[in-house]
Amino acid sequence: MLAKAKSTEDSREREFLFTDRDFKMIVSLVHERAGIALTEQKRELVYSRLSRRLRILKLKKFSDYLRLVDGDKSTDEMGNFINAITTNLTSFFRESHHFDHLAKSVVTPLANSAHAGRKELLVWSAGCSTGEEPYSIAMTIANGLPDWKNHNVRILATDLDTNAVAACRRATYRHESIKQIPRDMTKQFLINDSDETVRIDPDLQRMLSFKQLNLRGTWPMQRQYDVIFCRNVMIYFDDAFKTDLLKGFHSLLKPGGYLYIGHSESAGKLHGGFDLIGRTIYERRA
Ligand SMILES: C[S@@+](CC[C@H](N)C(=O)[O-])C[C@H]1O[C@@H](n2cnc3c(N)ncnc32)[C@H](O)[C@@H]1O
Repeated sequence: MLAKAKSTEDSREREFLFTDRDFKMIVSLVHERAGIALTEQKRELVYSRLSRRLRILKLKKFSDYLRLVDGDKSTDEMGNFINAITTNLTSFFRESHHFDHLAKSVVTPLANSAHAGRKELLVWSAGCSTGEEPYSIAMTIANGLPDWKNHNVRILATDLDTNAVAACRRATYRHESIKQIPRDMTKQFLINDSDETVRIDPDLQRMLSFKQLNLRGTWPMQRQYDVIFCRNVMIYFDDAFKTDLLKGFHSLLKPGGYLYIGHSESAGKLHGGFDLIGRTIYERRA
């Protein structure tokens, strides 16, 4: 009774009417569509992120907005809804020990291998956000394997959020965001665009392909990967979905391939097919 009175009072103070029922429906839709488990602590964040959509659409109540998201087949508000809910925080060379490991344990051995003909290196950046992660991977590879264009080196970068995937394709970043890129790589792989922005070298960009992909849905990939990055993504999911994901990563990794996950995530307890070989670095068991 008390909670109900409080929620009615809250909704009177707000710009838009936002009831417990609305929040519950949002939690259920987001879980069903994206696998993201929103907790009660996210209530205010959800309100503020979706308020922008209500303002644009000139709506007054969340219930009207949710009708549009879930019911109205003539709009693609579901896409905007999901884009508004996702958290895209990322940076170049974030958790840099993963890039050190990639250079030392994957790229250098490949560069030194006596393999005649085209060498192969396939990497998947799952939940790549706005591109800083997959471009950091590309720079690490091109730095250690300068003739990468003569080989089959491919990075697949995917994210649920269509705005994030569009930002990957634009490949334009603000000067202040490139501070963590090692200096020698800045010189090799970035082009000064303007006083405010830099662009990724188009040659380097050709190492990547971008795709909108919901980890919750079916994955179209047929080949196995040498390396999968899925960092700071599983943190939003419940254990059942994390276990399914790890099963999927296990079958899409070559035996001996590496899985890199975020600093507050773990994989070992949820799936027995990986060995923890470094800080948040897993190797797929043969
Ligand atoms: C915090 S960012 C992490 C970006 C990058 N991996 C990093 O560590 O810097 C999380 C990303 O996961 C994406 N994401 C969330 N749920 C997803 C899902 N079901 N399928 C695919 N991507 C998802 C979000 O859109 C967001 O861009």
